[in-house]
Amino acid sequence: MFSTETYIARRTQLKKALSSGLALFLGNREVGMNYVANPYPFRQDSTFLYYFGIDKPDLVAVIDVDNDREILFGDDLTLEDIVWMGQQPRLREQAEHVGVREVLPIRRLAVFLKKVRRSGQAIHFLPPYRPEHQMALKGWLNIAPERQKTAASEAFIRAVVAQRSRKSDEEIAELERAVNTTGDMHVAAMKAARPGQTESELAGLVEGIAVSAGGHLAYPVILTVQGQILHNHYHGNTLQPSQLVLGDFGAETALHYAGDLTRTFPVSARFTSRQRDIYQIVLDAQLHAISLLRPGVRYLDVHLAAARRIAEGLKALGLMQGDTDESVAQGAHALFFPHGLGHMIGLDVHDMENLGENYVGYSNTVPRSAQFGTAYLRLARELEPGFVITVEPGIYFIPQLIQQWKRTKHCAAFINYAAVDKYRSFGGIRIEDNALITANGHRILGKPVPKSIAEVEALRSEAL
Ligand code: GLY
Ligand code: MN
Ligand code: MN
Repeated sequence: MFSTETYIARRTQLKKALSSGLALFLGNREVGMNYVANPYPFRQDSTFLYYFGIDKPDLVAVIDVDNDREILFGDDLTLEDIVWMGQQPRLREQAEHVGVREVLPIRRLAVFLKKVRRSGQAIHFLPPYRPEHQMALKGWLNIAPERQKTAASEAFIRAVVAQRSRKSDEEIAELERAVNTTGDMHVAAMKAARPGQTESELAGLVEGIAVSAGGHLAYPVILTVQGQILHNHYHGNTLQPSQLVLGDFGAETALHYAGDLTRTFPVSARFTSRQRDIYQIVLDAQLHAISLLRPGVRYLDVHLAAARRIAEGLKALGLMQGDTDESVAQGAHALFFPHGLGHMIGLDVHDMENLGENYVGYSNTVPRSAQFGTAYLRLARELEPGFVITVEPGIYFIPQLIQQWKRTKHCAAFINYAAVDKYRSFGGIRIEDNALITANGHRILGKPVPKSIAEVEALRSEAL
């Protein structure tokens, strides 16, 4: 946990931004996997963690801005709970540690909110993403689940996004810790991979490193020889010589800050010449994108600059053709690079995605594109100091997408479909790092993880 002062200062800033009303923070509950007493690993809501820090289930907090009150609703363990779960600090002590003085039993919450509603005071809540919260909001506020997303408080969302987007020094240190553990996971996978192994052996290895470091995974492991499937969570394939392994996985620290790195490496000691060509294009695009990072730059423009590098590289290989700028303007590159360049990272790997991607990644002056590929960009707005973001271009050969674009002659002026056909079984390559936007530029977080062809091949040769 951070210091008491950190949580008090965060709430003070929020109160100033909201200026009136009552803000409701729904802590997460345990969720049964196959029966109630066999739960998924508990994960506290990130906004609750940010303002109240207490990493325990079944809590709700309110900030009454008008009357300057902060109340934590929750219950201490019963003797029966203690038999199964052991003694825990009293809720009052936990609340004191984050600077909250009022603690009330959870059964008082419904009546409390009823009174607030009757008084006419505005109740700010964030868009719920768990069904138990939707049920609770229906019960307390009488708002049907299907209306809750639009009834959520825009002022609250905007205030939280503004605050959580700019990471403090202590958050940056925690993110760096997450990225360092994530780097260890990637190096371990690169060292351990052998032909004949299953993907699950490596997935288990990297998950173990995240847990050993005192945290968890930040998101389900992607570790696959089918890198063209963007979020592939299947781990049943056997590694074959000449295949590529795409690993996109990261650790979450004990305080729940996330790392999110991707590396792609050959099962054999060396890349094939075709793999080298494609890898180098992705790497050039990533390094170029990183070189552009500084305050004031629109991430949309960095995304498009990376897309142009990819189009240039693919033109040199004879897979694309025509004017590069025009091909990217028409979205032709998205056959190979169908996702966005990156997203914010923090307490969530896609930071604050539950609050609405358009609030987090877009602004009035930078609206979302409707074009396939660029539409998936999660972060497009101008970068600011304190933002921590991912930079993750990729090139993929997705047979079904190629088939469909070829059949409909989509962007045929810019794509050499006859040449692309020869790459249908290539797979995919992505390279991802995490960067802090500083006052004048940027800094890549974490210790270096092999990335150039020479570095990756050196590590693989040593390992095999
Ligand atoms: N790990 C998912 C992503 O890179 O967005
Ligand atoms: Mn990733
Ligand atoms: Mn990412």
